[in-house]
Amino acid sequence: MSKPDPKQTPAHVHATTRDWTAYFDRTAGMPPRETLIDALDAFGEIDPANPPLAVDLGCGIGRDTGELLSRGWRVIAQDSSTEGLERIRTDPVFSAAIGTGRLQIMECAFEDFTPPPCDLLNASFSLPFCPPPCFEDFWLRIDHAIRPGGYFCGQLFGDRDDWSILEDRTHLTREQALSRFQNYVLHSFREEDRPSNHTGEAHKHWHIFHIIARKRIQ
Ligand SMILES: C[S@@+](CC[C@H](N)C(=O)[O-])C[C@H]1O[C@@H](n2cnc3c(N)ncnc32)[C@H](O)[C@@H]1O
Repeated sequence: MSKPDPKQTPAHVHATTRDWTAYFDRTAGMPPRETLIDALDAFGEIDPANPPLAVDLGCGIGRDTGELLSRGWRVIAQDSSTEGLERIRTDPVFSAAIGTGRLQIMECAFEDFTPPPCDLLNASFSLPFCPPPCFEDFWLRIDHAIRPGGYFCGQLFGDRDDWSILEDRTHLTREQALSRFQNYVLHSFREEDRPSNHTGEAHKHWHIFHIIARKRIQ
């Protein structure tokens, strides 16, 4: 029997349609990502009189932004989705934080964004959506933004992921992912390489690197 065309599978069709509305509906109310929680725990106590700054790249509807704010951080929440950011702007907790200046919203694409110097850069399941021709430049800007002693946390997608055949996605080998962190101490680097668990996620092969890394102070 011939193999099914990988570009006709439900996972591929789902991926190419990029239905962020459905994604936002499905993930509304879900807890913050573990990589963020662990990075915040590793960062430790903060000075409430002088809160550190986090950048939440591809923040969606603020699943992680909310956790950062509740722990006293200042946050720049960036995404290209008008709809996702509108849900943030109209949420009472987020709009109060916007009012006090603790939360700033940046509506733009990764390709056009230069993150400012920050103490933590969170990129939960968002960087694979940076188009490959722009990824290396964007990564340089990310690396430049993270202050010595600051943290990166989030996900990169691997080359064995089913979505790696999509031309507008950035997928890296394990070596390519690890090589980004030579100037960092890896707090954790967990590789997930598995078929779908059929619990509401896209039915596909997942290959994900979950990363928490602290930039060396030198
Ligand atoms: C899988 S969602 C992750 C959202 C959130 N970080 C989370 O963990 O639930 C990916 C997010 O990346 C955003 N995104 C996709 N391509 C983007 C781009 N080129 N520039 C900026 N944001 C982008 C989408 O709008 C979406 O909110």
